[in-house]
Amino acid sequence: MGKMVRKDDDSFSNIELGAGCGNFGEQFHPKCYLTEEDINVGARCGNAGHIHFYCSAYATGCAENRFDTVIMSNPHGYGFNDVSNAERLIEELYRILRTGAIGKIIIVCNDTNRFCSPDRVIKRLNDDLGFVHIRRPIMVENINPAVDYPGFEFRQTNGILPAFPNKRITIDVIK
Ligand SMILES: C[S@@+](CC[C@H](N)C(=O)[O-])C[C@H]1O[C@@H](n2cnc3c(N)ncnc32)[C@H](O)[C@@H]1O
Repeated sequence: MGKMVRKDDDSFSNIELGAGCGNFGEQFHPKCYLTEEDINVGARCGNAGHIHFYCSAYATGCAENRFDTVIMSNPHGYGFNDVSNAERLIEELYRILRTGAIGKIIIVCNDTNRFCSPDRVIKRLNDDLGFVHIRRPIMVENINPAVDYPGFEFRQTNGILPAFPNKRITIDVIK
């Protein structure tokens, strides 16, 4: 069982989805809820005391207009791999990002990962969905984890994914 959150803490303005065995959001975006869909993450990781609460990225159960930033570190099993997943995800993130501010979706990804590669994200949002509530062009940066996220060890859980993300995608959501 992860950390029990009995009551929503307003000071937490960031949320990480699919945190798995990692705690990226907590390290680099303080005041960040760490969430995960798989309730067996404890057994998988050896310890899941870091997860604040369990939810699907597509249906977080969080209040509308709640967060400034949504973070995904190496998403796998959810994301932008196909149009329908991208649509469900962006609708949910739009719902939970705050109104009247520029909300941010930050994705750290390896460009070989089909759930988040920059070309997929851009194609889904621009061509497939034509999602209008974002600032364009979508920002894609090369990252070097050792330099940009010192001390953070990216975790891989399926033995297939590359161990290190090499891109950061920032989507500014205007609501
Ligand atoms: C490759 S791991 C990444 C873990 C961690 N964020 C990291 O950077 O090492 C992907 C995680 O996403 C989770 N996941 C898969 N589908 C999900 C969904 N629909 N909603 C939330 N998390 C999901 C998986 O259970 C897994 O823990």
